[in-house]
Amino acid sequence: MGNSISAEGAMDGPQHEPVLLRELLEAAAPREGERWIDGTFGFGGHAAALLERGARVLAMDRDPEAEQRAALLQEAWGEQLCFVQGNFAEMELAASGIGWGAVDGVLLDLGISSGQLDDPSRGFSFRWDAPLDMRMNPTGPVTAGDLLQELGEEDLAKLFALVARPGESRRLARAVLRARERGRLQTTRDFVAAIGAARPSGRRIHPATRPFMALRMAVNDELGSLEKALPASLRLLSSGGRLAVISFHSEEDRRVKQFLREHLLRRPAAASRAEEGSQLEEGFVRRARFLPSNEERLRNPRSRSARLRVGWKGTREDL
Ligand SMILES: C[S@@+](CC[C@H](N)C(=O)[O-])C[C@H]1O[C@@H](n2cnc3c(N)ncnc32)[C@H](O)[C@@H]1O
Repeated sequence: MGNSISAEGAMDGPQHEPVLLRELLEAAAPREGERWIDGTFGFGGHAAALLERGARVLAMDRDPEAEQRAALLQEAWGEQLCFVQGNFAEMELAASGIGWGAVDGVLLDLGISSGQLDDPSRGFSFRWDAPLDMRMNPTGPVTAGDLLQELGEEDLAKLFALVARPGESRRLARAVLRARERGRLQTTRDFVAAIGAARPSGRRIHPATRPFMALRMAVNDELGSLEKALPASLRLLSSGGRLAVISFHSEEDRRVKQFLREHLLRRPAAASRAEEGSQLEEGFVRRARFLPSNEERLRNPRSRSARLRVGWKGTREDL
């Protein structure tokens, strides 16, 4: 059976294929004996590749279900793999918990896995009528339903602004308020119906796909976690270490790009006047961006919006 893309961007067909794996391995080149943090273990596709290269891996995931999958990998890799359930924003705590003061690589493959999308009870997908949950960690404090019931028009419009132009995000916010007043906002399908009233169909992707994504990103404070994880990664990386981030949303990618640029060391001659005053002694000495090949885009439709950015840490002497 060929692959087909579902409304939410999940893959049918071969599951959990790690995105941009070849590019990651070539650019970030994990080596025997190195210490790597995989902050987004998921189904362990990237982690397995790091382990195969001989790296030791500290794997994290907010989703407790990932622990069972990590246990399977541990049967093969033993102590080379350690799993900690938690938010990658707290990777420094997790690393020090296993006695790692510095690491050689950090990988973040953002968003959710196709396994999470494909589980009807999690509410990540509108292929089924399910309660509006969307928490990566099911013990998290706020569900999608809570946000849709509690936020006012202004905050809802801000939430949708991540995926829609200002006028449209305002229309989406009002549509949610109307559905809420009528008591028709309990399930994923209710949300789709509310969105349908405010967003014309006939787009390349389902009109509810991007509002669904914005809601999920808000429920899990995904941008907030990323904002904490980027400086934490830089602090943890040893000189020569690599930060690799795969993102699926332009706002995530923009923040990664900006972080790499702000912490890029430049030779004095190449630095602008403002940058000459910079006190940065360590940061990134090189950065690069990778997109999926045409072959990967055809084979795995989920990869189409993926971007990989890699930064190599060093000091001024490495320039
Ligand atoms: C795209 S999947 C990763 C797939 C994985 N690289 C693989 O090869 O199977 C993203 C995973 O990261 C987890 N995740 C997302 N944000 C997280 C965060 N802030 N902290 C920890 N885990 C997170 C999700 O629960 C999900 O399992």
